[in-house]
Amino acid sequence: MSTETTPAYSPGLAGVIAGETAICSVDPNAGLMYRGYDIHEMAQKASFEEVAYLLLNGELPDGKQLVEFARQIAAEREVPAPVMKMLRLLPGDSHPMDVLRTAVSMLSMFDKELSDNSHAANIRKSIRLIARVSTLITDGWRILHGDEPLPKRPDLTHAGNFFYKLDGKVPQDWQIRMLDTIFILYADHEFNASTFAARVTASTLAGIYAAVTSACGTLKGPLHGGANEESMKMLEEIKTPDRAEAWLKKKLETKEKIMGFGHRVYKKGDSRVPAMREIGRDLGKRTGKEQLIPICEKLEEVMEREKHLYANVDLYAAPVFWMLGFPPALNTPLFAASRVAGWCAHVVEQHDNNRLIRPRSLYTGPPARPYHGVSSNGAASQKR
Ligand code: COA
Repeated sequence: MSTETTPAYSPGLAGVIAGETAICSVDPNAGLMYRGYDIHEMAQKASFEEVAYLLLNGELPDGKQLVEFARQIAAEREVPAPVMKMLRLLPGDSHPMDVLRTAVSMLSMFDKELSDNSHAANIRKSIRLIARVSTLITDGWRILHGDEPLPKRPDLTHAGNFFYKLDGKVPQDWQIRMLDTIFILYADHEFNASTFAARVTASTLAGIYAAVTSACGTLKGPLHGGANEESMKMLEEIKTPDRAEAWLKKKLETKEKIMGFGHRVYKKGDSRVPAMREIGRDLGKRTGKEQLIPICEKLEEVMEREKHLYANVDLYAAPVFWMLGFPPALNTPLFAASRVAGWCAHVVEQHDNNRLIRPRSLYTGPPARPYHGVSSNGAASQKR
């Protein structure tokens, strides 16, 4: 007699604890910590490099370690020439997330440590991935639009370099500070879909490149990272705050999903929203595009009243990226330029203490039945 008990079924794995992590904790009552540090203070004060180091290594770097880590990232930005050549073969209307996924996959073949899943090799590959994902996005975007990639600037930080490599302008300090904050807010979020995809892939002992490729594919979907691109389309459609309520009610009547709202874990609001909303208000004043944040605020008000649903970080990320001068098609890649640090940290953690991730399913197909296929009576062999 089997002693195996049937585990409880939870559609979409909602509420299921699927593994352990010491990297990040999400509190459903709107708290978020990286390795025990509240992200809100770090979002204001830290650099992306400092947070990436923390996620990967478990502790904050001292001054010397931070300088060295930032130097390593800057030194690893160059992408192998064949990968750059491949980028030139892609159709001009390719989505930048598809470009990124394809290019990350190709990068793996040029990493001499591809098959080494040791902790030390995984950390070295993480640094290369963090550096090169950014290059693939910026240079890939330029190539798609018929522009040549720009010369490297190892003196710029991860955030500063992203701006510069896109349009050749070195950003002002306040722009770098803002992008650092956004990158910190996006850097990790425990077992979100793309990170979970990365961990599932890594758990088969496939390497970190395979895991990050899976993660890129997963992030693109509009129910996950793709929501920040979709949110911008929605704001462009609404245009002005006074049109927001009527627009939203009409969508709710037809049971449409409203991008930038709802969350699997947060049911009382996303912990990252207040910081992102604040950046949006600041940018509204700086750029004169002051109607965008009030549209989001109106949507928040109506959505809470009508559906008891709250905004997630992607609602405000959309106008923030727009006001920072980024095209909406780069919203999800910008998310990836940060989340790659989280993905890598989770792969390192998975490989350091691995167990294959392989859940069960609840079978809903037909009951057992006799086979009457064409080859059961020899019909297939007679035809030959
Ligand atoms: N717009 C309209 N209705 C929504 C909604 C949204 N953005 N998010 C959830 N709902 C509805 C669901 O349809 C469901 O309604 P029902 O009970 O009548 O079927 C109800 O709210 C509860 O949904 P829930 O179980 O909490 O959602 P989930 O955990 O399965 O899904 C998301 C979470 C994030 C996928 C979902 O909220 C969503 O699709 N949001 C839009 C995409 C988005 O912004 N993604 C980024 C997430 S950070």
